[in-house]
Amino acid sequence: MRTVVAGAITSSDGRLLLAQRSYPVQVAGLWELPGGKVEPGEELAAALRRELREELEIDVEVGALLAETVELAHDLTLVALWARIVDGVPRAVEHSRLVWVSVDELEDMAASNQLVPADTAWVPELCEVLRQR
Ligand code: CDP
Repeated sequence: MRTVVAGAITSSDGRLLLAQRSYPVQVAGLWELPGGKVEPGEELAAALRRELREELEIDVEVGALLAETVELAHDLTLVALWARIVDGVPRAVEHSRLVWVSVDELEDMAASNQLVPADTAWVPELCEVLRQR
């Protein structure tokens, strides 16, 4: 069983960073919270910081775990952590594009199936928390 950790990266003006997948074909073009697989023995927060350095060239400060955990195929468990950028400007190294979305835009994208299926589990919590900010 491996864990995949994703970042719910927020801006100071209440937006969320979404990354558009470029592979595999089944999910290419869909948007996700960026992240990747946790290495054996690695802490969740450390894994997220490593993945976001590799994929987006940013340093983040990691916060709390989001409530939902998603069981993916192939013995993978997907979790997400709140994060905010402390250094760097995000660059799409592995993704096709990046976008900062408002809560309304996030809801629209979820409603029109533009998110990676697993990530839709987080939408209610993401919207609730972002609206409180
Ligand atoms: O970078 P690495 O290969 O370690 O991980 P990945 O390919 O980005 O993600 C591993 C698995 O988690 C894939 O099946 C992704 O589709 C899935 N994933 C997801 O469903 N939602 C995310 N926000 C991130 C990854």
